[in-house]
Amino acid sequence: MKIYAEITGWGKCLPPAIMTNDDLATFLDTSDEWIRTRTGIEERRVSYVGTSKLATVAARNALAAAGLDANDLDLIIVGTCTPDEIIPNVASAVQRDLGAKYAAAFDLNAACSSFLYGMHYATQAIRTGAHKKVLIIGAERLTRILDWTKRESAVLFGDGAGAMVLEATTEECGLLASHVTCDADARDVLALEFGMSFDRFGFDGIMPFNFVGQEIFKRAVKGMNMAVEKVFAETGLTTDDIDSLIPHQANKRLIDYLAKMCNVPEEKTVINIQKYGNTSSATLPIAFCEAVEQGIVKPGDTIVSAVFGGGLTCGAGIIKWGQRVTPIRDNNETLPSNGQTALDLILPVYEGTRKAWEKREHE
Ligand code: ACO
Repeated sequence: MKIYAEITGWGKCLPPAIMTNDDLATFLDTSDEWIRTRTGIEERRVSYVGTSKLATVAARNALAAAGLDANDLDLIIVGTCTPDEIIPNVASAVQRDLGAKYAAAFDLNAACSSFLYGMHYATQAIRTGAHKKVLIIGAERLTRILDWTKRESAVLFGDGAGAMVLEATTEECGLLASHVTCDADARDVLALEFGMSFDRFGFDGIMPFNFVGQEIFKRAVKGMNMAVEKVFAETGLTTDDIDSLIPHQANKRLIDYLAKMCNVPEEKTVINIQKYGNTSSATLPIAFCEAVEQGIVKPGDTIVSAVFGGGLTCGAGIIKWGQRVTPIRDNNETLPSNGQTALDLILPVYEGTRKAWEKREHE
């Protein structure tokens, strides 16, 4: 009998401190108008806790939606490019904090494509019988690695986490087809040179953030095009069979392009970049979570998804939702405020980096 990997749980965690475009314009030479029209972003979140804490809240919400206990899990995958430490991994902190003592736990870094990569490999693991109940998380604290003096990249990103539970079933649902790739010739167009230190907080040196926006844009369009065509070909489905589009949230213009390509109207395209910016591996699970909460995803819907990220990694998937769109237990746990605003959190880091650049110029 054929085994599928149904999405039975979904959850998210958005840190409470909000940085608006106008907040950014108080210390960067930018404007709400520029950011809004070029990217679609209006605000983003800034976290005061590490990636593993964001991941754990999202994970608890996903487990609640699935009606599972942590001990039911046999695998935890955390997609992230901003782990708290290099060793040990974020997934082991989540395993400990959830009390999921029977779960294997590893991190996966395909930058913004990590969550779809995670779904791809978790689905294969469930289909072969290697695993039965898998928790996949996308979690990032990108605000601690950005160069806050560089307007071309600082305005684009934010913090957050999202999670999904996949469970073995004989019903035809979950990820029906997926394709993941990497265009490694373009490794350098999105790169952070950190050596062994990768946290701007408490660090006053320079960690160059290489970012070539237009090249990323061009390669992303090409890669997603190819990946989407592949998953349509593999399933034999056409754009007429698609109920909604849930894409990576990197730029509203890219999302509009994808919607046109997949022939999905605006009301069936999930867009939340205006609220959160690009949260890298977390954009996809947060978008799925909100699509279910807002009733965009209906029982049995067919969804197309596409992602790209540093590497340049790329991917697409066709997902069939199961019959349940309501959580089994309440999945609205949030991270409380610690009283600090987004500017409280970021301005000291900005100042440190600005001084380091100034010093470099005088050397
Ligand atoms: N505020 C004001 N002006 C700015 C800003 C800013 N934040 N950033 C750049 N500018 C200026 C530039 O200096 C340039 O000025 P000039 O014409 O005087 O030289 C002008 O605006 C145009 O800059 P471009 O880089 O050409 O702007 P573009 O229209 O290409 O938009 C963007 C930039 C939004 C980054 C776009 O290239 C893009 O969306 N790229 C792909 C998506 C992406 O890179 N997302 C980031 C995440 S990567 C990922 O998800 C893996």
